[in-house]
Amino acid sequence: MLIRSPLKFESYGAVKIYDITRVVCLYGVDFERKHGVFNLTSEDLLKTAESTSIVIPVKNEDPLVLEGVLRAIPLHSPVIIISNSSQSPLDIYSSEIDLAKNIHQLSGRPVVVIHQKDPVVSELLKDGVPGLVDESEGVVRDGKGEGLLLGTLAAEGLNSKYVGYIDADNFIPGAVLEYALVYYTALSMSKSPYKMVRISWGFKGWYGSDLFLRRWGRVSGVVSNVFNYALSRGRRFETDIIKTSNSGEHAMSIELAKILNFASRYAVETHELVHILDTCYVRMKENACRALPNNIDVIQVESRNPHLHVEKGEVHILEMLVESLGSIYHSSMADQEVRASILKLLRELSYEEEPVKPRVYGYPNMNAKKFLNDILSRSEVSVAYGL
Ligand code: GDP
Ligand code: CO
Repeated sequence: MLIRSPLKFESYGAVKIYDITRVVCLYGVDFERKHGVFNLTSEDLLKTAESTSIVIPVKNEDPLVLEGVLRAIPLHSPVIIISNSSQSPLDIYSSEIDLAKNIHQLSGRPVVVIHQKDPVVSELLKDGVPGLVDESEGVVRDGKGEGLLLGTLAAEGLNSKYVGYIDADNFIPGAVLEYALVYYTALSMSKSPYKMVRISWGFKGWYGSDLFLRRWGRVSGVVSNVFNYALSRGRRFETDIIKTSNSGEHAMSIELAKILNFASRYAVETHELVHILDTCYVRMKENACRALPNNIDVIQVESRNPHLHVEKGEVHILEMLVESLGSIYHSSMADQEVRASILKLLRELSYEEEPVKPRVYGYPNMNAKKFLNDILSRSEVSVAYGL
């Protein structure tokens, strides 16, 4: 893959946020590099793919769509499915297990499937990650953010250097392949051990409605604007650098994951940026930034395939918006003006309350390899093929 090297960036303390860059050519290795574009040698591509685990969070998606996603991920990357799908009355989870087993049998690739409500998982994490396990139910809480945290621990347990996340409701397998190639290529652009790649969908649409490919997502556009407003006010230079506040498709180094906080539910993607900027920009001088003396590189890439996923309705959109804005609202990034603008925006959507502060979980300091091995040896619901 050829990606234009991002030349422009803005520095906020130790955080370098690169302006959005584009995919120039979907596939190409061992190609003589032209000035201003970046690509990998075949050797580096394979090495990076092997050291990148791809985590797929899934909750009751169509198994046919999940199958397309599984088939699209390059074979050299280990796959980790974190499922919160139902086991009864309809057992969607068992279909996911069958798909994983099938793809392993046909290709030999390793696949791990962990259920979010696995009692072994909650037992192993209840002390290490305060708040993650719901006390009345005794299992890990619902939520995409909770799923990503489990997936990241499993990726660390597999000894991966990087982790990339891809949603299970992607209707276009070719788009999924592109996301993986963007992760390998863009992660290799940065020399910092602390790095993140966030994808901005070039075009998006919803499966089921009349096909109309939009340039701007409904949530990401709004939240990125608020984010930029907060950054602009803090620094007194107006900026529009953030384009990927809600990027579900993103990847990072495990080194970076280990100094992050993961937020609950749909606040997770926005909160990664909030946490990075809170610790390594706003509170950097208070010794809050664990990345120092390195920079944290945030690279934003616009993908070329259209992103088609399930239309989950207006309530879902509002939920995502409120949770993401809650992360900014309750952070050190927001002053009175920013908070007022968030409340105004929510009121226009007939949401009258203050957005709640998302629950956040620190990345646990534990032996991730043992965590994964313990799950796989003791669990009756989670499985691995080909490890
Ligand atoms: P959107 O694409 O940002 O509108 O959000 P989606 O509702 O499509 O969720 C993104 C991905 O997270 C999808 O693959 C969902 O199936 C998955 N997901 C949603 N909730 C949960 C959850 O509680 N746990 C896990 N593991 N995955 C979830
Ligand atoms: Co989706």
